[in-house]
Amino acid sequence: MPQVIAGVSDAMRAAENRIKPKRNSSARILPTIAIDRSAPVSLHQQVYNGYRSAILRGDLRPGQQVPSSRDFATGIQISRFPVLHAYAQLVAEGYFETRIGSGTFVAASLPEQLISVKQTLHQTTNLPPGPRSVSLRSLAYPSYDRAVLTRGWGAFGVHQPAFDQFPFSVWSSLVTEHSRNPRVSALHHISPMGSERFREEICLYLRTARAVRCDPSQIMIVSGSQQALDITARVLLDSENPVFVEEPGYGLMRTVLVAAGCRLIPVPVDREGMDIAFAIKTGKKAKAAFVTPSHQYPLGSTMSATRRLCLLNWAQSTGGWVVEDDYDSEYRYESAPIASLQGLDVNSRVIYIGTFSKVMFPSLRIGYLVIPPDLVERFSAVRLAMDIFPPYLFQEVLADFMSEGHFGRHIRKMRKLYGERRDVLVKSLRNEFGDILDVHGAEAGMHLTVTLPEGFQDVEISARAAQARLWLWPLSPCYLLDKPRHGFVLGFGSTPGDRMPDAVKAFRSVLFP
Ligand SMILES: Cc1ncc(COP(=O)(O)O)c(C=O)c1O
Repeated sequence: MPQVIAGVSDAMRAAENRIKPKRNSSARILPTIAIDRSAPVSLHQQVYNGYRSAILRGDLRPGQQVPSSRDFATGIQISRFPVLHAYAQLVAEGYFETRIGSGTFVAASLPEQLISVKQTLHQTTNLPPGPRSVSLRSLAYPSYDRAVLTRGWGAFGVHQPAFDQFPFSVWSSLVTEHSRNPRVSALHHISPMGSERFREEICLYLRTARAVRCDPSQIMIVSGSQQALDITARVLLDSENPVFVEEPGYGLMRTVLVAAGCRLIPVPVDREGMDIAFAIKTGKKAKAAFVTPSHQYPLGSTMSATRRLCLLNWAQSTGGWVVEDDYDSEYRYESAPIASLQGLDVNSRVIYIGTFSKVMFPSLRIGYLVIPPDLVERFSAVRLAMDIFPPYLFQEVLADFMSEGHFGRHIRKMRKLYGERRDVLVKSLRNEFGDILDVHGAEAGMHLTVTLPEGFQDVEISARAAQARLWLWPLSPCYLLDKPRHGFVLGFGSTPGDRMPDAVKAFRSVLFP
């Protein structure tokens, strides 16, 4: 089995290695050293004691640069002489070292006996052995498993675009331009809805490409779909409200609803998306339906026109809300993109959510909500209490990226590339597995799903695969009810086509060791 099947190009790895932290970033930050002019201890002794304690506590780290004696004296408003005296003593005793032309640093290798003092001091921090009381609300959130989010550097990484194809040169020149010449008005507080110019660009895009009915005044910029889901739940739902969710479905969407105290009603999904007739029969009092109609996550079906209309009728007749998570609809390979569900809604009962995580990159953390006009005021009020408004810089950059045509060009280029990668993946799966695996939802997006025959345990296989640097995202945790199907969500966005056949071979070796 190949040891490493990278989903990321060597150039990207090299770029990652180039990013080194600046070593002297602390040089101009004054350490908190208390000086009391009325104390019977000399100023030089106080400066010396303050630095020594900070080093022994570990607040100042070996190798860390400290302010020059002049900056320090100016900063704490004493004469420079006692500071020079204290610095000289700290150098003489080995706490500080000076580097000609660079400045003064905490000694890179502190004497052994000092390190043991430091450990003793650290152990005096009073943390009780057991857990302390936190809110019941916080306990509703599942534990954060770092391994899950950082596992995706191997082949089949889910939610990962082709990072190495992103036009970073264009992007960086726009970032530089907006950093050098910011619009002063935009540096101040802006609306909780976000930058007006950016919302206009998004509106234009959504009307054209997604047939969304909107006006810029309805668009709120958020930090990814995740914040959109959270704000939506806060505005629309109360604790104990029953809510329809797709079964299987997107885990982070369910987390938001569970944390809001809602009662989740899992509704099965088939080739036509969420089974709306089942939902209506099962949850008579449901307040909202959370759906991914363009490309159901994780099984990949598209909600049929009949079910879309049925869902909208349900919402209108019961006063329910429909929350449409349209997370990757830019990429459709066998037909033109499907119009949004929101565009069919004549009664303003749909809250539409979109994201730049797939078309740009996930760490950008930018997404948007399209809010029914009469709810904008409540959404803004909730947003204000969360983070007031979104950060300015990347909104401006993205507005230019869109208006100058780079966005549309990048989507077109990626659609072709991902289409090719998807074709190779489907073909390789067929070559390696024949009809052992069923493939679902390969018509759109950046992932497809395979289901396994009876008897295979996806979570256990996925842990083994991670050791071979394959990211096999297990399907069964996407189910709420017993008897989940086992399988894997396979991303193809970040795995180059020429590496795909070997990656699929490695997948086979993990499945049949
Ligand atoms: C169903 C679904 N919604 C939304 C997102 C995107 O979330 P965000 O915009 O918070 O990165 C994802 C994954 O990337 C997803 O799978």
